[in-house]
Amino acid sequence: MTHYWQNDQEYISLVEDLIYTDEVQALREFKQHHYTNRLEHSISVSYRSYLLAKKWNGDLRATARAGLLHDLFFYDWREEKMGEGTHAYAHPRIALKNARKLTEISPLEEDIIVKHMFGATIAPPKYKESYIVTLVDKYCAVEEVLSPLYRKMKLKAISFI
Ligand SMILES: [Fe+2]
Ligand SMILES: [Fe+2]
Repeated sequence: MTHYWQNDQEYISLVEDLIYTDEVQALREFKQHHYTNRLEHSISVSYRSYLLAKKWNGDLRATARAGLLHDLFFYDWREEKMGEGTHAYAHPRIALKNARKLTEISPLEEDIIVKHMFGATIAPPKYKESYIVTLVDKYCAVEEVLSPLYRKMKLKAISFI
């Protein structure tokens, strides 16, 4: 299946050295919000944030790359003995550490990754790109939960007619 982002050469050129690495591909193994895996979620956040950064004259490269790496952690927090608050604080920092093993991380990219839980964590983003990613991350989380339900409801409605 071809995904929407796979037709966007400009986007691909920004992330292709990261997206096919074993580390990023391993995110496929982790469930995210019940219906998607962490890889699909990370690509959605990255690509949608990149489109908004384009619209608002942001740094496309930093937004696409940090968006892709913002959840680069390899555990299921529901199975770890850590509370939701601890996870909200810890996982952006773990993702940053893992991201640094893959590529050079700029101060802007660092801010995007570390501040993406703003709302659940206190430190506010420093850049507009960080606001874009934290908002898109929340939007995707809601959509990932709702869209399968919505699809189910629509199918039911159609079969009813
Ligand atoms: Fe996250
Ligand atoms: Fe996320």
